[in-house]
Amino acid sequence: MVSKTKKPSIPITEIEQSAFCQTDEDLASKTLQEEFEIGVQWQKLPISYMRTSPEQLSNNIQKAKKTLGQKLVILGHHYQRNEVIQFADFRGDSFKLSQFAAEQKEAEFIVFCGVHFMAETADILSTPQQKVILPNMTAGCSMSDMAQKDDVLDCWEDINDVISSKSSLIPMTYMNSAAAIKSLCGENNGIVCTSSNADAAFDWAFERGDKILFLPDQHLGRNTAYKKGIKLNEMIVWNPFKPLGGHTEEVLEKAKIILWQGHCSVHTRFTVDQIRQARETHKDINVIVHPECTFDVVNEADLCGSTEFIKKAIVDSPAGTKWAVGTEISMVNRLAEENPDKTIFCLDSVVCPCSTMYRIHPAYLSWVLDGLLEGVVVNQIQVDQKTREFSRIALERMLSVV
Ligand code: 13P
Ligand code: SF4
Repeated sequence: MVSKTKKPSIPITEIEQSAFCQTDEDLASKTLQEEFEIGVQWQKLPISYMRTSPEQLSNNIQKAKKTLGQKLVILGHHYQRNEVIQFADFRGDSFKLSQFAAEQKEAEFIVFCGVHFMAETADILSTPQQKVILPNMTAGCSMSDMAQKDDVLDCWEDINDVISSKSSLIPMTYMNSAAAIKSLCGENNGIVCTSSNADAAFDWAFERGDKILFLPDQHLGRNTAYKKGIKLNEMIVWNPFKPLGGHTEEVLEKAKIILWQGHCSVHTRFTVDQIRQARETHKDINVIVHPECTFDVVNEADLCGSTEFIKKAIVDSPAGTKWAVGTEISMVNRLAEENPDKTIFCLDSVVCPCSTMYRIHPAYLSWVLDGLLEGVVVNQIQVDQKTREFSRIALERMLSVV
């Protein structure tokens, strides 16, 4: 057995998660220097960018984008700030953005306004000539940070050592994981999934085996498996800080789904009480949540799906409908602004952006674009050849399963 008792460690991205939580609604960007005053540890950049006002940054980005023309494509995830997403040529959830990245053969530079694992994926799916840039290198994801490569390798080795039929175990990782984890899946007959195709990815896996190791979000894994008819007592949680994940060999042998002990600090803030409260205040409310929410929250909601699914459901709904939404606040606020004929609000009254998505301040976008104008590629994301090879296999499986 290679897994050992370890001191539980909390990723810095998780510790910083509440840095921008507030009770008033104003999430408008300030200068980066002012935002740094809260004590966050983001990538350093030249002082002139720190002091530039958001309005001036906006003008600068617009000009740089115009000059770079077809050489540049900007991809933006729905959780980005308004001051950043306005410049995205394509917006979407992780699945859609991966498709865009794979299709953009012309652009020399792909600037990814999202988080690190998304930019890595774009690098893996794009051509070797293209350069993928993440404006702020510290824009990671606390959930992804909860599955460290060595811990996952230990887990994989231990489970395979104790179960009787090795070929029956299929590793599946949520997109929200490092390329090294995707590579492990690609190398071992596994697959990557996103919140929009997790259902289909489970079908894919059960056509090939009868047991899934699901990384790193226990909630997406549990919610999806339950929908597929797997009982809660057939699922166990692997604790990376305990030998054998905290289980006996017999328990590991019997489990149908082994869920990594990871979660999203943004989505686990939503509660059943918040849903009940929303239903009491608005009698005809629709509750829609992301599948990274807990099992109880997902079961209490009316609808559940990826950010693109949430957006589509609300945009396509009739005028006058009411929506309580369980996902990241920048996206919920934007949906409310863009659909003034509907009532749209976040389930959580405390305004808590995803603190790592929020690290893409317009100052960083302006900085990397100015670099490109001067012929300097700042913050390129480059996945090494071996990791790239196997993670691409797992990602191509993901793209083929809908
Ligand atoms: P989507 O794929 O639904 O956009 O989710 C990405 C994410 O990080 C949600 O927290
Ligand atoms: Fe990661 Fe959660 Fe932020 Fe998504 S919302 S990027 S899962 S921390």
